[in-house]
Amino acid sequence: MTQFSYKNDELFAEAVSLSSIAETVGTPCYVYSRQEIESNWLAYDQALSAHDHLVCYAVKANSNIAVINLLARLGSGFDIVSIGELERVIRAGGDPAKIVFAGVAKREDEMRRALEVGIRCFNVESEQELERLDQVAGDMNLKAPVSIRVNPDVDAGTHPYISTGLKENKFGIAMDQARAVYQRAAKMKNIEIIGVGCHIGSQLTDMTPFVDALKRILNLADQLESDGISLQQIDIGGGLGIRYEDETPPTHQEYADAILPLLADRNLTLLIEPGKSIVGNAGVLLTKVEYLKSNDVKSFAIVDAAMNDLMRPSLYDAWQEIQPVSITNAEDQNYDVVGPVCETGDFLGRNRQLTVQPDDLLVVRSAGAYGFTMSSTYNSRPRIAEVMVDGDQTHLIRRRETIDELMTGESLLPPGK
Ligand code: LLP
Repeated sequence: MTQFSYKNDELFAEAVSLSSIAETVGTPCYVYSRQEIESNWLAYDQALSAHDHLVCYAVKANSNIAVINLLARLGSGFDIVSIGELERVIRAGGDPAKIVFAGVAKREDEMRRALEVGIRCFNVESEQELERLDQVAGDMNLKAPVSIRVNPDVDAGTHPYISTGLKENKFGIAMDQARAVYQRAAKMKNIEIIGVGCHIGSQLTDMTPFVDALKRILNLADQLESDGISLQQIDIGGGLGIRYEDETPPTHQEYADAILPLLADRNLTLLIEPGKSIVGNAGVLLTKVEYLKSNDVKSFAIVDAAMNDLMRPSLYDAWQEIQPVSITNAEDQNYDVVGPVCETGDFLGRNRQLTVQPDDLLVVRSAGAYGFTMSSTYNSRPRIAEVMVDGDQTHLIRRRETIDELMTGESLLPPGK
């Protein structure tokens, strides 16, 4: 259930009004609801409770250490893709033994650090990666736990940039090569095969592709069993899509009901790596209208947040709902909601019916996932603040970057050069 709702025409996050956050923290900023994040994670955990499982939150969706810490406290595992995400999970109190490490280009130093802290497994995506991992683990006198990510060649039916399970995508090892790669891996001295996995894409709103992919991987698991390779875990990648506009993604129960029967007589721990569906609708981007301007074809609401703060609309032409923080009775007008960045692609929403005046506050909904984490400092705009609401409490979980921080690490050439 959403924790962002109107009370007397004022938008609240849990029990805190968004206008009060704008007053104390300033705009733009991201605002998250603790309760919504926690209940989204628990919904997966409960729906899957009939089968041995581990929900590994995909850190890339929102990697603020406060978010990671809340989920760690619930017992979450974590899906990471870089040493940066690994260190975040460790600092936020996550259990290394519940970390799965994905990614197509793991560096040696990343492998070494992950082995040193004892992660649960590497989701290996190529034969060369396997060879490198065998060598790095050998140097450390360790065995690297491995799950091979196969590419099941299933169309997730989602945006091409976030569809990952087709042969033409760079991810995983092709199904028809997987068996041979497992046989090679089984002979490697410093590799311990523990599982198989896949991830076919993000924002899936239908169970069919998940189920098709799972069936194909189980088929592979059976072949491996006959080769004498038995697996302990199966990882089916990212979670459900969310409602941005009028999508109707399956419920957690429908998800579990589609997947668990296929695993019923198998001794395989189920791992899932949801990101978007844990944090996406649990966050908003809070922004202020700076100016309005119109010509004979368009009206623009120019706000203080931009494509560098929230890239999804520009990058994927994604639609995210834009709502006023205070509802008034004046008549709506059609606006393009745009930011200060010098690009025509800098919009948060186009053709939106809104009643706005300069200084009014707006929120962009469904911004808790792939919002802050994909932000940049383009146009030398400092990264914005992040706030976690918990009941009637507001916690600043990342303060706004300063102008000095914006230039940290840069230097002039030596004098005279
Ligand atoms: N596991 C792997 C290996 C992944 O690559 C991803 C997402 C996930 C799990 C989490 O998937 P989720 O549950 O969040 O759908 N920036 C895009 C989404 C990119 C997803 C990349 N990988 C967006 O804003 O829609």
